[in-house]
Amino acid sequence: MKTIIVANWKMNPASFREAKKLFEATKKMAERASGVSIIVAPPVLFLRGLAAEYRGRKISFAAQNTHFELRGGFTGEISLPQVKDAGASHVIIGHSERRAMGESNEDTRKKVAAALSSKLIPILCVGETVRVKGGEHFTMIKEQLRVALLELTPAHASRVIIAYEPAWAIGGESSISPQEMQTIAIFISKTMVDMHGKIGHRVKILYGASIGEQNAAAMMKEGRVAGLIVGHVSIDAKRFGALLQSLA
Ligand code: PGA
Repeated sequence: MKTIIVANWKMNPASFREAKKLFEATKKMAERASGVSIIVAPPVLFLRGLAAEYRGRKISFAAQNTHFELRGGFTGEISLPQVKDAGASHVIIGHSERRAMGESNEDTRKKVAAALSSKLIPILCVGETVRVKGGEHFTMIKEQLRVALLELTPAHASRVIIAYEPAWAIGGESSISPQEMQTIAIFISKTMVDMHGKIGHRVKILYGASIGEQNAAAMMKEGRVAGLIVGHVSIDAKRFGALLQSLA
């Protein structure tokens, strides 16, 4: 199975001209890389422009967030049908930076259900904001999964991607250890099986937070994950290229 690499550009870059340049570089590196499937999540404003020009098969597109309602009076919001129409096949849900702005577990539940019914693949982010001794993060992850996936049907279970992203580790240079990720991945799988039966095994698990060319390969080798979410390194074409190379 191909390694999934999500390039989460967050609120970067500032102009469409720069976004096109970054995408051109990403595209070249994607073509050279083997065994990876790249999902670029640009600012939603740039989504259509980038997706419309792309003819390859290595890259697909994600929205970084959407509303759960499909239409109506929600000034300033973007809908799932709109991002799908713009070329997205995936949508990130419940990123810690959105949770910090007020997104609740209940919101993620509505968004996951709406994404699946709109035939978009949800990338549900879970993880704790701070790490305290005593394993409370397991309780938090379990609750985030329980609420967000409450309406998951067996038919949909294999379409959901779950990303473990410890918020406290985002934006730096050192991730949690692959061994620790392995433990968390087993915990997520077990929680999914407890909640949804055998089908829970099929859910793909990603890791995100401070992944770069220095630690991506080790995380893929020992972390028991199907792929990675890459933030700040994905907007640095040189480093992102080195990261893809390191996985070859
Ligand atoms: P980072 O961000 O790679 O900059 O830590 C990851 C993310 O927030 O998805």
